[in-house]
Amino acid sequence: MSCFSCICSRRKDVSRIQIDKASRSASSVTEGDRKKEYSNGKRSTRAAASFGFRELAEATKGFKEVNLIGEGGFGRVYKGRLSNGEIVAIKQLSLDGHQGFQEFVTEVLMLSLLHHSNLVKLIGYCTDGDQRLLVYEYMPMGSLEDHLFDNNQGKEPLSWNVRMKIAVGAARGLEYLHCKADPPVIYRDLKSANILLDNEFSPKLSDFGLAKLGPVGDKTHVSTRVMGTYGYCAPEYAMSGKLTLKSDIYSFGVVLLELITGRRAIDGSRRPGEQNLVSWSRPFFSDRRKITLMADPLLHGNFPVRCLHQAIAITAMCLQEQPKVRPLVGDIVVALEYLASQSNTHDVHRHGVRNPPLQPSEIDRN
Ligand SMILES: Nc1ncnc2c1ncn2[C@@H]1O[C@H](COP(=O)(O)OP(=O)(O)OP(=O)(O)O)[C@@H](O)[C@H]1O
Ligand SMILES: [Mg+2]
Repeated sequence: MSCFSCICSRRKDVSRIQIDKASRSASSVTEGDRKKEYSNGKRSTRAAASFGFRELAEATKGFKEVNLIGEGGFGRVYKGRLSNGEIVAIKQLSLDGHQGFQEFVTEVLMLSLLHHSNLVKLIGYCTDGDQRLLVYEYMPMGSLEDHLFDNNQGKEPLSWNVRMKIAVGAARGLEYLHCKADPPVIYRDLKSANILLDNEFSPKLSDFGLAKLGPVGDKTHVSTRVMGTYGYCAPEYAMSGKLTLKSDIYSFGVVLLELITGRRAIDGSRRPGEQNLVSWSRPFFSDRRKITLMADPLLHGNFPVRCLHQAIAITAMCLQEQPKVRPLVGDIVVALEYLASQSNTHDVHRHGVRNPPLQPSEIDRN
């Protein structure tokens, strides 16, 4: 589900704590098992269902190519229809090497415990024989990555307002992990490919196979092998393996930067000096006159300049080298909610002309 590099097998890396605490593997969880979960800070129960392989093969018409909707490090993702008519996304662990097996276990355990409107829902899983499959709610608009960077598929560029809506929703999902889950959960794989979108462009965080329980008591960090995705990983974590909630804040800053600029975190096709988005953007942070040059050209100037300045200020705070001075996610949520409300109500600056505010019906067309 991820691809950081430096880095050996993911198998040994995932959190043992919660798995040991749960004292059973996902493969021993059967349909109808009730599990404790955190729901809005309270414990409640809901279990992911156990599916047979045949049922999922039928749902995808034999994993037909036409139903393939994506592929990542974990394996292929298919669209399918369950026997009850529900449309789902089915992720099949690629069987070579079993590298993702531990991620599979962590994913099932985490998504059985964590429930929030900005986290993708796990409907079930399959552990028949060697097969490992995950069944999720289907997110019809795919990933944020598809919309920001993949414009050759005839997709409309995302408007400024929709970008702010996505930023707020993703921050709320992260706030739930950091502040409502107890103990807190460090996501570790925040990136635009893992932010999935529904029909209204409401975002949901996905892929919890690398997530870890945060430090408790006097501990300031969790020590782990470095995992994550190059370009999104906080520098102190990449160098020392010391993982804190602030590592996620840095990754969130990179996603904000992608939303604002329409540039990929790492883009080898750009000229030297522009390939690493964070390094490219740093000089702009301190030069207010040049800040509008950072905006995604696909926005064609359709954004409130004041909101752009504020969004970049939040981004710069998230990307500070020192983890301690990065903001807490709760403060980011408040700031972004304010920005999103301002973006909706302010005049839109376009090529120096003040335009009337966007009507709701216009928002998605920009
Ligand atoms: N629940 C879902 N609903 C709709 N599409 C999905 C869903 N989950 C994944 N996808 C699609 O499948 C693609 C691949 O997802 P996956 O999580 O396997 O890999 P990734 O996150 O892009 O990369 P990696 O796993 O290597 O970090 C996504 O970009 C998205 O387009
Ligand atoms: Mg993913």
